[in-house]
Amino acid sequence: KSIVILISGRGSNMQAILEARLPVKIAAVISSSPNAHGLEIARQHGIPAHALNHRDHETREEFDTALAAKINEFNPDLVVLAGFMRILTPKFVHDYNARLINIHPSLLPAFTGLNTHARALTEGVKIHGCTVHFVTPNLDKGPIIVQAAVPVLPGDTEETLGARVLEQEHQIYPQAIRWFAEDRLTVTPDCNVILQNQQ
Ligand code: GRF
Repeated sequence: KSIVILISGRGSNMQAILEARLPVKIAAVISSSPNAHGLEIARQHGIPAHALNHRDHETREEFDTALAAKINEFNPDLVVLAGFMRILTPKFVHDYNARLINIHPSLLPAFTGLNTHARALTEGVKIHGCTVHFVTPNLDKGPIIVQAAVPVLPGDTEETLGARVLEQEHQIYPQAIRWFAEDRLTVTPDCNVILQNQQ
């Protein structure tokens, strides 16, 4: 099986995936920003890395059409959003139905959207975390594949809490892709994910 990873910036989740020795071919990394640090990391790993600047496209539809054309050059089995900061059009999401996954820095369905760590601190939750899920047209609402929880500790800042969550992101994202590669993920008609042969 092969995957294409979409990034917009730092690329630490992408790096964790590249370094996890997964049984998949990483066909390419595509960034929505030409300045993404992740592009450098991908190239250092010998992975073809492309920038597709969203600013060169007038509408979301145009950008998504160009993005899909680029992705399809590699014909991947799975498209992995790793810190990809563009909202995708329903058509794009539909075209990659059950072949598109994302990582979100909260325990969904809590804290969809941005600034999840700050909001977790404001709300005073005692447990926070991250979620890998299939992408559906409803932002951050797709079928959940795997989650990891971390404690919120006294004195935590957005940075300390974010770092604790990120460490878990780097564990569960490669894990989810491994399960996909092993054909162990099934989405039920009521949109729950079943993991086959769970130990
Ligand atoms: C991560 O926190 C991820 O959950 C969110 O964006 C951030 C990307 O970080 N979607 P990185 O680019 O993978 O380092």
